[in-house]
Amino acid sequence: MTIDMNKVEAFAGQILGDQGAAITALLVHIGDKLGLYKALQAGGPMTSIELADKTGTAERYVREWLANQAASGYLEYDAETTRFALPPEHAMVLAEETSPAFMVGGFESMAGLFRDEPQLTDAFRTGDGVGWHQHDARLFRGVERFFKPGYLANLTSSWIPALDGVEAKLAAGTLVADVGCGHGASTLVLARTYPQSSFVGFDSHPESIEVARQRAEEEGLADRVRFEVASAQDFPGSDYGLICFFDCLHDMGDPVGGAARAHQTLADDGAVMLVEPMAGDRLEDNLHPVGRLYYGFSTVCCTPASLSQDVGLGLGAQAGEARLTEVLNEAGFRRVRRATETPVNMVLEARK
Ligand SMILES: C[S@@+](CC[C@H](N)C(=O)[O-])C[C@H]1O[C@@H](n2cnc3c(N)ncnc32)[C@H](O)[C@@H]1O
Repeated sequence: MTIDMNKVEAFAGQILGDQGAAITALLVHIGDKLGLYKALQAGGPMTSIELADKTGTAERYVREWLANQAASGYLEYDAETTRFALPPEHAMVLAEETSPAFMVGGFESMAGLFRDEPQLTDAFRTGDGVGWHQHDARLFRGVERFFKPGYLANLTSSWIPALDGVEAKLAAGTLVADVGCGHGASTLVLARTYPQSSFVGFDSHPESIEVARQRAEEEGLADRVRFEVASAQDFPGSDYGLICFFDCLHDMGDPVGGAARAHQTLADDGAVMLVEPMAGDRLEDNLHPVGRLYYGFSTVCCTPASLSQDVGLGLGAQAGEARLTEVLNEAGFRRVRRATETPVNMVLEARK
């Protein structure tokens, strides 16, 4: 076999870039925790001394961090003034929590997952699952911050209106369940917009429910929003006008059981909204940057979570519309359609 050295060189170049991105991921997480991006956004271009002063950090570390960030193209460096600037467009991605482009939560989750590596490597050997509760807590907060910008930008302005008659029902007042709600970001976005309706978020992870309750208190929504520990297969209640699953059905061991419970507890004219990562039906449709990111998270987070539960279906985060429709049909839903989508999410509507 002859080795094509040009191909070796090109691939090594790609890996060099990926290694740079991987070490920079750690630096993004550190900068996020220390408030370095937010200080640069608020204070404008700064030297390392100025940024260290503003943030109460050690200048020598900050100087090295800034150099990496400039080499990454995240910050702009002015050699004359020796100041580093965070362009406003980059601030939307790295500093502004509520901007639709904010993406730092992903790095927080990754930091937690690196910490979890020994148990994940073991799971590859044994085939055992790794439950949601077994992860470093940064995963949970990172997931909340990763998905929340998408909910703020899309949930009430385009996803709900894309469902048949649901917006009017929410405005008039109905009962809504948000199953697998995590820290409740989606539940609270809905509750703020539709004051006539009542909301209950369910999740099998007690620590997440505790945080969701705190968020509801902080936002003054605790009178209309309840959060309860319950699993998707047997959450309580009946006659829900809307039941939502946000980026969680594929994490469940028994997604058919969860969807079947939704079928049982849904009002006859109610709707299920299933939000899942955007994916084509075939692996070969997903070999691109979005697929790369989601297969990555799926390998170390979603699939192990599913395998840790009864049934252990292991749908994976890139199951695709056809497979998800099958799950909903198996659970009893007769009508399933893709209501809308974004570049990273698909929104399915299911009816009895
Ligand atoms: C990726 S997180 C998404 C959380 C939230 N929906 C959001 O969008 O931020 C998946 C959530 O599903 C929950 N989960 C996994 N299996 C579950 C089950 N069988 N029943 C209820 N919740 C479950 C996890 O505890 C976790 O909070």
